[in-house]
Amino acid sequence: MFDLLKKLLSPIGPSGLETPVADTIREEIAAYVDTIEVDALGNLIATKLGKAENPRKVMLSAHMDHIGYIVTGIEKEGFLRVTNVGGIGINNSYNRHVVFPNGVHGVVVAQPVTGQPALKDLFVDIGAQDKDDAKCMVQLGDVCVYANDCFRLGEHRVSAPAMDDRCACALLVKLLQTVGETQDTIIAVFSVQEEVGCRGAKVASFAKAPDVGIALDVTGWGDTPSVTQPEIKLGEGIAVKVMDRASISHPALREALLAAGEKAGVKTQREVLPYGGTDASAMQTSRGGIPVCTVSIPCRYVHSACEVIDMRDMDAGLHLLQTYFKG
Ligand code: CO
Ligand code: ZN
Repeated sequence: MFDLLKKLLSPIGPSGLETPVADTIREEIAAYVDTIEVDALGNLIATKLGKAENPRKVMLSAHMDHIGYIVTGIEKEGFLRVTNVGGIGINNSYNRHVVFPNGVHGVVVAQPVTGQPALKDLFVDIGAQDKDDAKCMVQLGDVCVYANDCFRLGEHRVSAPAMDDRCACALLVKLLQTVGETQDTIIAVFSVQEEVGCRGAKVASFAKAPDVGIALDVTGWGDTPSVTQPEIKLGEGIAVKVMDRASISHPALREALLAAGEKAGVKTQREVLPYGGTDASAMQTSRGGIPVCTVSIPCRYVHSACEVIDMRDMDAGLHLLQTYFKG
């Protein structure tokens, strides 16, 4: 699982520019699914047909996009002004190594201000001599992300900037590779533009009209100094969401997933997240409404350049999902 995760963390894929991620995933899953398509927004949708006479359609959604910075202006000295694409917290954002899809590297820096810097006080230094030099490297509207830096932290943990949500992409790929024949039809959506409002999952769930929707995403943590909420601990199991700010999980689906975890003999955690949302929110209100839940990988420092997960929780998630589909 670690090698797959590492592979999926490396492509650069800010919201709206997820193709390199989709290409990497397609290679991994092609042999294990019945059809693969890419829709108009860039969602990679893989379908694995169920063996039941009238199979239930279960959509699983993991987003490929990563938060980033979009160039809003180029100053005469060659510095780039930027704004956020997705949820960039100011405390996490400066003095960081960033990279553009064309391979140009930069550092995000905050200019000195009285008090706390705001996004407008950030600039990106790409080493340009002046504006013309900068324009040979990047254009207005180009987007950069935190440069990949994936490493093991202790025996079980891994840190990387794009963990949200490539770890869930890895979980979904691994499920497709290992689950074998199922009664249900599995519609695996590797979605786009989650970080800017779950836009990919919204159109995919409309197009595919699933009977059930399960988002796979990271959740927050409550096990570091002065952080106690949500009540989620790394290494204590895969989380099954009860609620966040954008969706309320269907009680029966939630309990079925928790029961699958118990049957699989893995640790699970009930998740109540007092902030945030996932692709489940888009699926829940699609068409006439779809029962949804989110299976969440506990993740520290979400939306920073050093998001940390525990591989034991990934394994627990895989076994839970395998058991959910295989009984
Ligand atoms: Co996110
Ligand atoms: Zn996410």
